[in-house]
Amino acid sequence: IRRSFSSSAVRRVVIKNVTIIGGGQMGAGIAQVAASTGHSVTLVDTSEDILKKSVKGIEGSLKRVVKKKFADKPEAGEEFIQKVLQNVSTSTDPAAAVPTSDLVLEAIVENLNVKQDLFGRLDKLAPKHSIFASNTSSLPITDIASSTSRQDRFGGLHFFNPVPMMKLVEVIATSATSQETFDSLLNFSKALGKTPVSCKDTPGFIVNRLLVPYMMEALRLHERGHGSKEDIDIAMKLGAGYPMGPFELSDYVGLDTMKFIIDGWSEKDPDNPIFAQSELLNKLVAEGKLGKKTGEGFYKYK
Ligand code: 3HC
Repeated sequence: IRRSFSSSAVRRVVIKNVTIIGGGQMGAGIAQVAASTGHSVTLVDTSEDILKKSVKGIEGSLKRVVKKKFADKPEAGEEFIQKVLQNVSTSTDPAAAVPTSDLVLEAIVENLNVKQDLFGRLDKLAPKHSIFASNTSSLPITDIASSTSRQDRFGGLHFFNPVPMMKLVEVIATSATSQETFDSLLNFSKALGKTPVSCKDTPGFIVNRLLVPYMMEALRLHERGHGSKEDIDIAMKLGAGYPMGPFELSDYVGLDTMKFIIDGWSEKDPDNPIFAQSELLNKLVAEGKLGKKTGEGFYKYK
């Protein structure tokens, strides 16, 4: 299933101008990496307040990056940050942002109708050559693309949190995605300094299809009373070499995101035990304890 590069690069779009819809953890992270690698980025969200927070997050993350990258040259580091920030503009109006886009990448709420509605509207406003992509973690790209008239110029680009640190991008072609579009997305991923892998348009692609059932089983193992969350986290870090244990990672990814993913899958395949619900997860989400971003999830954060 792995696609190779096409020999004719005639219609391959070189992605320079990127519009990112959604200024949350993922959208802001992708914006940061794209801007850091010389792309011109417009970050779009519904309010100026959210966008201010996104840009603040980018600045904070860039400071961490330059502390390492420019350890001996703090002035060059500061210059780098300013240059990157100049590559990022923000907007609350996607209609104003897309007419110059080579790529429109969506990282909004994990809800099919909302994503279809967004892309359906943008389809009429974006230039013909513009490629659309979704950073969905669990929904079929084919379903999202169905609201547009550019299914040949539509693919999946799935990043991982924290985007500046995680080297992988999953590049997804549907059965309608053209080879040129796939090549453009692959090249864009490489231009971001990431390593792309490809897989079919199947639920969770590669990483989440393996990672989320593992994390859910950790929750259920704890619910069965078979181990404390602290011990399970220590076990997977020291016994399996994972950088974070499953409870820490759930808090980091966001318990709402975890729930969106598992709810969608268990609805489609209710008898599959690896997609079974966790009452503990449902309870925490109902209480608004969504993990690190709200100050509390499985653990408390300062
Ligand atoms: N921006 C920039 N630099 C960062 C960063 C960020 N957001 N986060 C970490 N770093 C860098 C910094 O240089 C930091 O040093 P500093 O604290 O002095 O600034 C350095 O990494 C070390 O960070 P920490 O001391 O906080 O902790 P770790 O050594 O554990 O590294 C980690 C952090 C890279 C996040 C590591 O714990 C890790 O890899 N965790 C697993 C992440 C993972 O599995 N992600 C995938 C989730 S699934 C997903 O995203 C898919 C979605 O669809 C659900």
